Amino acid sequence: MDMRTIKNLEDIDVAGKRVLMRVDFNVPVRDGKIADETRIRAALPSIKYVLENNGRLILMSHLGRPKGKPEPQYSLEPVASRLAELLDVGEVFLTDACVGDGARRVVTDLRDGQVALLENLRFHAGETKNDEKLARELASFGDIYINDAFGTAHRAHASTEGVAHHVRTKAAGFLMKKEIESLGKLMGEVSRPYVAILGGAKVSDKIGIIEKFMERVDTLIIGGAMANTFVAAAGGKLGKSLVEQDKLALSRDLMARAESKGIQIMLPSDALIGEDTESAQATAAPMREVPDEMMVLDVGPQSRDAFNAVIKRAGTVFWNGPMGLFENPQFAEGTLSIAKAIAGSAAYSVVGGGDSVAAVQQADLGHGFDHVSTGGGASLEFLEGKTLPGIAALSQK
Ligand code: 3PG
Repeated sequence: MDMRTIKNLEDIDVAGKRVLMRVDFNVPVRDGKIADETRIRAALPSIKYVLENNGRLILMSHLGRPKGKPEPQYSLEPVASRLAELLDVGEVFLTDACVGDGARRVVTDLRDGQVALLENLRFHAGETKNDEKLARELASFGDIYINDAFGTAHRAHASTEGVAHHVRTKAAGFLMKKEIESLGKLMGEVSRPYVAILGGAKVSDKIGIIEKFMERVDTLIIGGAMANTFVAAAGGKLGKSLVEQDKLALSRDLMARAESKGIQIMLPSDALIGEDTESAQATAAPMREVPDEMMVLDVGPQSRDAFNAVIKRAGTVFWNGPMGLFENPQFAEGTLSIAKAIAGSAAYSVVGGGDSVAAVQQADLGHGFDHVSTGGGASLEFLEGKTLPGIAALSQK
């Protein structure tokens, strides 16, 4: 992807114009409250730029995975309220639906320096289908289209891809640009050793990136439930832990390929185990000898020390995915210790993915990272070298 074919927000005169901006406000909402507002804050530079330069801003986003019709728990209402506070504006005008008469009225009445937010795009069945009629209707709301939703750039949806074909002026927002630059640094010449840390539940979600990292990194640290499958593939007894039986052969193959390339794959040597995910007690045990009635829920203290020592010597670090069942405080330490080790290292460091980013923010360690990516799946696909539809559609060619 030749980024020179994509305009940037600062190249565009927004004064008096209606600016339709796709953002990724897909934030966790619990009991009507936003649990992590990283993505909202990350979009503020582009939002403020438009408002300070007297544009009329129409924001649009999805939240969660509603199935093409309104589901109240996925309303963007809490986001509109929080955004109004963060911007210190009286109101962010939330529309009743992403398109239709109500939305059009709000958009038409918008004045310079005011901001509207279209209700959840995924309440409309056309969004995820990249429906052309929806894309045209959205496009008709703006004189200018800005995509700042890096986190959703891997989806070819009406608001991320389709719409870009029906506007005259389009550009990448500041967050989109920063993500591309910061992640892009991980794909060129890097300071070594280059360490990638991958966690999360499933090997199947990470195969593409593991294969890609085998061409680039010096050490690949694997944690989370995904490590169970690798350890089981190497003959370990995992009790009742989550193991992907259909990925054992693939895991063996990946380990053999890494060895032949001289790449170190580090798996946890010990674990914190419990009876189930609700367990209020964590017990340390060797990773390869988990009792039948127990399950692995976090990496153990020896593994933490071994991983931290590698991170300390690294020149470049990329991290995606938790090391354990982070939401249960008994099993959060493995993930937190990775966050602390990276934040304390001098390496060029990037973290991506909802849970790992949430851990970094909870521990207030964001300042210790060179880049905290708002993309989970998007950052992995970008690093795999895939063309992301939301970025490609911004190209002027
Ligand atoms: C994300 O959280 O990764 C993005 O917002 C995309 O959401 P999706 O996986 O539901 O498409």
